[in-house]
Amino acid sequence: MPFALRRSIGMHVLEARQFERAWLESTLFPLADRMAGLAEFGAHRLLDGKRLFWLFFEPSTRTRVSFESAIALLGGTATGIQVDPRAELIEERLEDRVRVINGYGYDYLLLRHHEEGGAERAAAVSNAAVINAGDGAGEHPTQALLDAYTIWKEVGRLEGLRIALVGDLTHERSTASLARLLARCGIARLDFVSPEMLPPRPNIKAELDAAGVPYRELRDVRQVAADVDVLYLTRAHTERLLHAQRMERESGFYAVDRSVLDLLPEQSIVMHPLPRGAELPPEFDSDPRVACFRQARNGLHVRMALLLALSRDAVG
Ligand code: CP
Repeated sequence: MPFALRRSIGMHVLEARQFERAWLESTLFPLADRMAGLAEFGAHRLLDGKRLFWLFFEPSTRTRVSFESAIALLGGTATGIQVDPRAELIEERLEDRVRVINGYGYDYLLLRHHEEGGAERAAAVSNAAVINAGDGAGEHPTQALLDAYTIWKEVGRLEGLRIALVGDLTHERSTASLARLLARCGIARLDFVSPEMLPPRPNIKAELDAAGVPYRELRDVRQVAADVDVLYLTRAHTERLLHAQRMERESGFYAVDRSVLDLLPEQSIVMHPLPRGAELPPEFDSDPRVACFRQARNGLHVRMALLLALSRDAVG
């Protein structure tokens, strides 16, 4: 494994903006393509002896299972614990837990924390490579990597694309990370479709401004559907989103229905990080543009590639 693979991203994976388009397109995505081929033919020994610990303060299906599968397919092992922060009688400091895990000699610490900044706190004291598997309303950088890979694979490129992110854009970490990553990928335009009360955070807009990526803030998917390459939905029926819509007395629309699909270009794709709600009805799954399950599967291959990139062996 070449030295540059790890040197270019650092020891930990904490936020999307630590990745550059050149590294994604030249290194991570081709490696993920190779991992898709390897995964077809069963286990390999590329991470023989490597050990991953997962520490999750919120539930997960995709992130946890794809990382566990990824390291197993590469010859390593995974173990971990699910913590319910509300059920703890004596709350243990995150930093103390990480220091204890340091003593057990893990190579990777996959952390899903309920508070923004949790991954950064863990990284400050961890001997293992911390991978942010979601920190409150903060970031979900490996979701952004698999999302960008899905776009690259399905549409054929990132440069010049028109992409719409839809939902509660203040609190949704998948769209926060993806917007920050796309700001660095030469896209043509980003559309934020959310209630007025739930806009993207100012730091995200500042990064787009700094990168010279134009963006619009809109309230209705139907305003953008005819003019996008990627429509990225998130859950539209959360308490917060429904409350915002009630407060604003607006008729915003944050879902896919037949009228939206009829507007969408033939070559576009519809993405969703899952789990989904009524915003993406299963009756449309047979539409080839609906990519959410291909997207989830790509997570396995991207996470295999990322674990390789972070491997201590890569330091040479
Ligand atoms: N997309 C995503 O993060 O899914 P999980 O919550 O199941 O990991």
